[in-house]
Amino acid sequence: MEISSASMAGLAALAVAWLWIWRFLKWVWLKPKILESRLRRQGLVGTHYTPLVGDVRRNFSMIKEARSKPINLTDDITPRVLPFPLTMLKTHGKTFFTWLGPIPAITITNPEQIKEVFNKVYDFEKPHTFPLARLIATGLANYDGDKWAKHRKIINPAFHLEKIKNMVPAFYQSCSEIVGEWERLVSDKGSSCEVDVWPWLVNMTADVISRTAFGSSYREGQRIFQLQAELAQLIVQAFRKAYIPGWRYLPTKSNRRMKEIDREIRAILSGIIGKREKAREGPNNDLLGILLESNSGQSKGNGMSLEEVMEECKLFYFAGQETTSVLLVWTMVLLSQHQDWQARAREEVMQVLGDKKPDMDSLNQLKVITMIFYEVLRLYPPVVQLNRAVHKEQKLGDLTLPSGVHLSLPIMLIQRDTELWGSDAGEFKPERFKDGISKATRNQVSFLPFGWGPRICIGQNFALIEAKMALALILQRFSFELSPTYIHAPYTVVTIHPQFGAHLVLHKL
Ligand code: HEM
Repeated sequence: MEISSASMAGLAALAVAWLWIWRFLKWVWLKPKILESRLRRQGLVGTHYTPLVGDVRRNFSMIKEARSKPINLTDDITPRVLPFPLTMLKTHGKTFFTWLGPIPAITITNPEQIKEVFNKVYDFEKPHTFPLARLIATGLANYDGDKWAKHRKIINPAFHLEKIKNMVPAFYQSCSEIVGEWERLVSDKGSSCEVDVWPWLVNMTADVISRTAFGSSYREGQRIFQLQAELAQLIVQAFRKAYIPGWRYLPTKSNRRMKEIDREIRAILSGIIGKREKAREGPNNDLLGILLESNSGQSKGNGMSLEEVMEECKLFYFAGQETTSVLLVWTMVLLSQHQDWQARAREEVMQVLGDKKPDMDSLNQLKVITMIFYEVLRLYPPVVQLNRAVHKEQKLGDLTLPSGVHLSLPIMLIQRDTELWGSDAGEFKPERFKDGISKATRNQVSFLPFGWGPRICIGQNFALIEAKMALALILQRFSFELSPTYIHAPYTVVTIHPQFGAHLVLHKL
């Protein structure tokens, strides 16, 4: 019997359709159920799988509910910031799994397990659940394996202390401009004035990164960062629909705008880099200059491409700007609430600096301020949670983690755990850091605002020195307290923001 070409085509189409249906069913049902049974057989507890969406909807509705009302200053902030993980922790205990769409995510809080995950950078990789996030920046923070190791090696010199020392004048310039603006606002009103410090601090850290990343091309740098901020907002909105397959390819207004922004950022960046390479200027003290210099010192084939250098520059902004403004804003809120610590910090600044301009050496002498920053980073870690993906079966303590699961490391919950930090874990007590981090943690991996291990934040010294510069200049000129209009409402938009700003009253000293 002969089969016509039309029926052959029909059979082929049917086979392709079945293949797709099979793949879809495997992705949305079979694989999650197999993984779930492997986890439960080991005694792990967790939520039951809802096809496709998992716990995403429940997570979002709990976040929406939590954000609908502010809290009191003395309330625990975790139910507002991480309502779903906290509820799960209370229901299931310290190790459990939930569902990120069809992917099981195992939450771990045990310091020994966390140490192992952070140390084994080749086994526990960065998850790439939301391809849209790559539009923000890929770069070091998103690479794995040998590519990560190569980029980390090239970028490391840019963050050495002697290089940061050269950036201190740029920190001073950006911070003193903002503090000068505050002085004008206060003078206009007499000697005190209410200021929402949050947008000012955001501008301050954006300005610092534009200056330190791009030096002479500072204005173009500013434009890039404005565009990146707009892109981030669009992407945060899109995350909610990101689990719908193919959503990001639809020509919606926001998808089109995201592509436009991406093109403009690339054009400006390649212009700046091209100019630098052509001019063959002497050594530059900005991050881009150090990066290009370190890159050119690599043997052939081991350097970064132009595209990769651009990604790293975009990443500096995302990784470094928002996190540092978040550290500063919660420091100002907590020092408003704890006037005794504000007074101790000012006393130290006056003793070390008087009214002199801070430099690297004097900033390094600010011990009370370091303790305060650590305590703020413990209670309000800008990055509240980190995630890793398992691509090959792995052992972790007693657990056997099958390929395809994720790990969630809830930094904020770990850093507020009373079993690890004592019954006063929720209280602001910077003195716990008086003998350093290892004493405060009793050498456990329980303080991880910058992550831990080989992938620890490359910019942590940069961030702490910048934040010290900002706080020293503020304390030299003002005392501050919470305004009666201040509303306490921490919430996460990638990092922990103050939902209604940070309205403080500044008093000129
Ligand atoms: C208070 C300020 C900051 C906080 C709390 C912070 C937090 C973090 C955390 C938690 C990680 C680890 C991510 C992970 O393991 O998945 C990280 C990595 C990173 N941070 Fe920061 N960061 C801060 C400031 C900065 C600054 C100022 C820069 C650069 C200008 C920067 C650049 C990076 C980069 C490039 C990585 C990726 C490192 C790698 O994967 O090897 N960060 N940061």
